[in-house]
Amino acid sequence: MLTLAQLIKQVLDEAYGDIPGNEAAKDAAISAEISRLSNSYARLTDSARVAIGYSSPVSRFAYIYKYTVAHADYIMQLIEQHRELRDLFTGDEVSVACLGGGPGSDLLGILKYMIRNGCEPALTCYLFDRERAWGDSWSEVAKSLEADFQLYPVFQQMDVTDPDTWRSYKKFLGSDLFTLSYFMSEIWSFKDTAEPFFDHCYGSAKPGAMFLFIDNNDANGEFASWHDAIAAKHGVEILSSTSCKMAFSNEEEKRHLEPYYSKFGWPKRESNVSCRIGRKSGTA
Ligand SMILES: C[S@@+](CC[C@H](N)C(=O)[O-])C[C@H]1O[C@@H](n2cnc3c(N)ncnc32)[C@H](O)[C@@H]1O
Repeated sequence: MLTLAQLIKQVLDEAYGDIPGNEAAKDAAISAEISRLSNSYARLTDSARVAIGYSSPVSRFAYIYKYTVAHADYIMQLIEQHRELRDLFTGDEVSVACLGGGPGSDLLGILKYMIRNGCEPALTCYLFDRERAWGDSWSEVAKSLEADFQLYPVFQQMDVTDPDTWRSYKKFLGSDLFTLSYFMSEIWSFKDTAEPFFDHCYGSAKPGAMFLFIDNNDANGEFASWHDAIAAKHGVEILSSTSCKMAFSNEEEKRHLEPYYSKFGWPKRESNVSCRIGRKSGTA
């Protein structure tokens, strides 16, 4: 079985191979893209901004390298910290809907938790995202990982601001867990058109369904407040609400990320985050 670090390295190698040009040109483009993403994330509450694009292989490489490794670790830590989340992984099967989960961070975090803790339920993971090309990055994950449990990743393309793209997706509404990792901040500037999608998910989730929200802890707490208002509207009880620093420091990942670590430095390792763990009310 591959380790997750080896799996990420494999996905990065593939994305790197898709970038046109020689090595120097690829590396310059990636470094510039890492800066572009970082600058874009500093402007998330600017309501006049345009959507951040991830369609090029350079963007996908830059995002997976810089952010996915850390975000996956944060998701794993949150599952480890909350009994209500850990309990989801003790049965025969579990289904998870990762909203804005195209880059794979949410899926990798869940896999990291399951592998570290020897969990063996069959895992169905719906990855919802506007950027179709993310599907290519993770479609082979089940085959490559050869995990001790069955793994069914399902990539579903949709744009939260366009109901015609998501209205017909029904099955995921029965998921045991919904994850929203750095997603609501990404679409906060478009929240008027995005909110019906969250009403659809939070309103139609089954009683007992769990929600895991983690995002930037912005100065005014706007992202978490938006999440909490939607949760309250649909009877999702907030079991845990924190704002804290989360850190990720795993030397093993650094070794496996070579040769990229020497070229592009550390992936993101520390974040100031708001986290929420919610549960849909009613009897399961
Ligand atoms: C900051 S990334 C977060 C990814 C991942 N959950 C994580 O924690 O690393 C935001 C994701 O939202 C997706 N996205 C942006 N706008 C969207 C929209 N209107 N509808 C669906 N997905 C969107 C992007 O393609 C991107 O994959």
